[in-house]
Amino acid sequence: MPHLIAPSVLSADFANLQRDIEMINSSAADWFHVDVMDGVFVPNISFGFPVMEAISRFARKPLDVHLMIVNPDQYIERFAAAGAAVITVHYEACTHLHRTVQAIHAAGCKAGVALNPHTPVSLLSDILADLDMVLIMSVNPGFGGQQFIPNSLNKIAALRKMAAAVNPDLLIEVDGGVGLHNTAALLQAGANVLVAGNAIFAAASPMAMISELKQIDGGFVQHV
Ligand code: DX5
Ligand code: ZN
Repeated sequence: MPHLIAPSVLSADFANLQRDIEMINSSAADWFHVDVMDGVFVPNISFGFPVMEAISRFARKPLDVHLMIVNPDQYIERFAAAGAAVITVHYEACTHLHRTVQAIHAAGCKAGVALNPHTPVSLLSDILADLDMVLIMSVNPGFGGQQFIPNSLNKIAALRKMAAAVNPDLLIEVDGGVGLHNTAALLQAGANVLVAGNAIFAAASPMAMISELKQIDGGFVQHV
């Protein structure tokens, strides 16, 4: 499968949101990455339903919603109704993760689980078969524009190995500090969905940057 590019709307210009959404619509990007932060699970507040619904009105590609919130169960149906195609919850925020994943599927969405940098991938062994995606946080969640944590590459490689037996189609998304400098290594390790905020929106041409990220060939070969 060719890798997917998911520009993070968090780095867009919120005073020109429609313009930036149209840019993503006409680019080589595959998804919109939508970061929801509650100021409790992470030390930052991004946006909630009104903004998400506004994005959904103009976006012509799937919305990949990353919930950095406590108690995500409470809002799954509302995020699905607001246009989410993929809903990712944090392992660290879910006491009954299996139930949460079932609720995401029941709402008609693909289910993802995100791991903070300190959370080992081995903790997912008993739920991996039920997931559509795992999101490896390669920075501590809360802010765009941070530096990539190199150990994320080891986590991606270990996860891809774990998934080979039970869920070979698993999407592995990487989020935080992703750019031209580490894309090939990430693909090689086994990631196939790349989130990028700063790398895209701080580029001279965000459209061209999306194309460049899309064209990089990681040459990933699945070892079983
Ligand atoms: C961080 C968010 C990311 C962020 C990535 O908590 O989950 O999606 O927007 O931004 P960059 O690519 O700038 O690190
Ligand atoms: Zn994110």
